[in-house]
Amino acid sequence: MTLSLPPESEHTATGTPPENDPGLDPVATRPADEWWRSAVIYQIYPRSFADADGDGVGDLAGITDRLEALPELGVDAIWLSPFYVSPQRDAGYDVADYRDVDPVFGTLDDFDRMAARAHELGLKVIVDLVPNHTSSDHVWFQAALAAPEGGPERGRYIFRDGKGPGGDEPPNNWESVFGGRAWTRVTRPDGTPGQWYLHLFDASQPDLDWDNPEVHEEFLDVLRFWLDRGVDGFRVDVAHGLAKVEGLPDYTKPATGGSMGGASFPLEPELEADTQHPSPPYWAQEGVHDIFREWRRVLDEYEGDRILVAEAWVEPLRKLADWVRPDEMHQAFNFSYLMTPWSAPALRTVIDESLDAFGSVGAPSTWVLSNHDVVRHASRLALTAENPQGAGLGPDSPGQPDPVLGLRRARAATLLMLSLPGSAYIYQGEELGLPEVIDIPGDARQDPTWFRTDFEKYGRDGCRVPIPWEGDAPAYGFNGTGQSWLPQPADWAPLARDAQLGADSTLELYRRTLELRRAHGLGTGSVEWLDGYGTDVVAYRNGDVTIIANVGETPVELPVGEVLVASEPTAEAALPADTTVWLRVRE
Ligand code: NOJ
Repeated sequence: MTLSLPPESEHTATGTPPENDPGLDPVATRPADEWWRSAVIYQIYPRSFADADGDGVGDLAGITDRLEALPELGVDAIWLSPFYVSPQRDAGYDVADYRDVDPVFGTLDDFDRMAARAHELGLKVIVDLVPNHTSSDHVWFQAALAAPEGGPERGRYIFRDGKGPGGDEPPNNWESVFGGRAWTRVTRPDGTPGQWYLHLFDASQPDLDWDNPEVHEEFLDVLRFWLDRGVDGFRVDVAHGLAKVEGLPDYTKPATGGSMGGASFPLEPELEADTQHPSPPYWAQEGVHDIFREWRRVLDEYEGDRILVAEAWVEPLRKLADWVRPDEMHQAFNFSYLMTPWSAPALRTVIDESLDAFGSVGAPSTWVLSNHDVVRHASRLALTAENPQGAGLGPDSPGQPDPVLGLRRARAATLLMLSLPGSAYIYQGEELGLPEVIDIPGDARQDPTWFRTDFEKYGRDGCRVPIPWEGDAPAYGFNGTGQSWLPQPADWAPLARDAQLGADSTLELYRRTLELRRAHGLGTGSVEWLDGYGTDVVAYRNGDVTIIANVGETPVELPVGEVLVASEPTAEAALPADTTVWLRVRE
């Protein structure tokens, strides 16, 4: 096997621009040690990580108690999904008070203790910020409901008169991401029907009006509140949705063109906008960028390296790169990578496109395979039928995944992801090889998608089940009482952290891989493609490590060298199907 290294295919892909490139001057001045350019960031979903008070919902004290496991795993930072005051109609992404902790998760003191412990352990702390909408319980929305039509209280949200006789029709035809229409009509104090308000998500999540300066002021203050408490950054929810086209024109999904249309997040990104298929009037509008420039100026006032991370479902990648220009955000989730099928040509293409797109603006590429909105990759990669984002998996879903194949591919995919230069995200439980939980009974499901689609789409509960810590404890050590807000499968004992520590396990594979990634500086490295392995293989060199992923069915001959880590045993110098290896090749 010969290794050829075409020089033109090399990427320096943490976004650090090549020296002497006058076109990227502003970025070239950035210090080389910016932690977020190569960090591995672990997503904690607080409801399901660890539950200190035993009520069945995870909490901040539980996180503090279990935090040591994360430096032991080898990650650099944590990102926490929302823990703010909220009626929890969308699991905390419906915030009623941005400056306080919901009692179900604890108190502000619990947050401070958790953040202090994380910092003591060398972990950066990123919190979630939800600026597209508030909860309908927020004082602003309650004031809007009580206020007269046209009053300033209503001007913080998007209230409009209805169309048609008596204003009985919604102001336009937009659909909610979670199903159904994106407008709800309110009732006047005298009991007669009044105006409509926009909610791209659940009716309990009214959209804010970002044309209103008061909204800007409020969020600048919220940013400062958490920055003053010492957070290292913000993951910004729906960062492609804040600006809407003036006049709120109707939008009709193109007849052809796949996923575009409706308000199709989270769960379907937009296709490339062109004149035939313009972006929907609520996603990816130019106006969002000034908002994030404003926020960036605030972050830059603070000491340390504080970051903004965009949750923006935008395609193509070169358009997404606008979110991470030098004066905007630092990182954007690479959902194009997450959605890439298990196919070597597709993987090579998305890796190339990611490195080019993010690199062109001096930003690091990011990589992610799982989060709290998508089917866990240990199941997703073995689905045998289309599973549109957001549909989720239930007992009746077509294309049920083979769990053994799913885990095998997940391990291979993870080794591939963690070898790439840039910053990678791990979602809690993937290091245990957790699959999607498919057989959650209908009456236990909680995702608004399930209800708003009349039980047609299962939604996201299957990836949100509390994670197992101890095989032989109530709720697998999630708490001491055995309560769990979503039921845990009966067969998870072997997947528990304590059962996997020190064993031949997925957890130990993650630990070894993260240790090697750090030792070999892969996060700050580059990709040099290697030819000659065939179309079903992804092969490249990053520094002194050669990475080979066999995405096909035929074993692949390996070059002579030392195996650093492999997602499955590699007998007789052959790389089996659905396996990734990191090698130090003997020259
Ligand atoms: C994206 C979040 O990740 C998702 O969980 C939530 O439902 C929506 N934004 C609405 O806030």
